[in-house]
Amino acid sequence: MLTAPRKDYPLAPELQSKIDLVLESHDYDATQIVGILLDVQELEERHYVPEATAYYLAAKLNLPVTNIFDCLCFYAQLSDKPRAKYPIQVCNSPACRVNVIDTKRLLETLESLLDIKIGETTYDGRFTLETISCFGACDRAPAVRINGQVYDHLDSREKIEALLRSLP
Ligand code: FES
Repeated sequence: MLTAPRKDYPLAPELQSKIDLVLESHDYDATQIVGILLDVQELEERHYVPEATAYYLAAKLNLPVTNIFDCLCFYAQLSDKPRAKYPIQVCNSPACRVNVIDTKRLLETLESLLDIKIGETTYDGRFTLETISCFGACDRAPAVRINGQVYDHLDSREKIEALLRSLP
């Protein structure tokens, strides 16, 4: 169990500088911890907050490291474990669920093309399928969000396949 802040944070200097920039952009304000963690995890290709980074943030924000891990466990959009390179997020909020046939078809097509279910990751670590609440593309459904970018009007298998193929 991780309880006390450690004195050593073996972070590469380049990563440390990038984290410091994120902290600056949030005025080193510990009340913005969720936003800070969301920004920091995007510094990792696999979109997560490694343990060493959690300790570094705890020390910089003068927070118990357990607070950091509590956030990482509580918020579905945060992770302390490596995630897929491309987490595919599908909205499950009411406004999109009104369009239930398109949303259901989108999910089924993604599951079929990737051969995974919601919450799973492809064997090569490239894709995860997630459902989340509204990300502001209600008028462009069916849509997905991948690494902050919205891809909309995915109303055919061909468009969904083309999107997956277009990701490097
Ligand atoms: S309700 Fe689904 S993107 Fe807004």
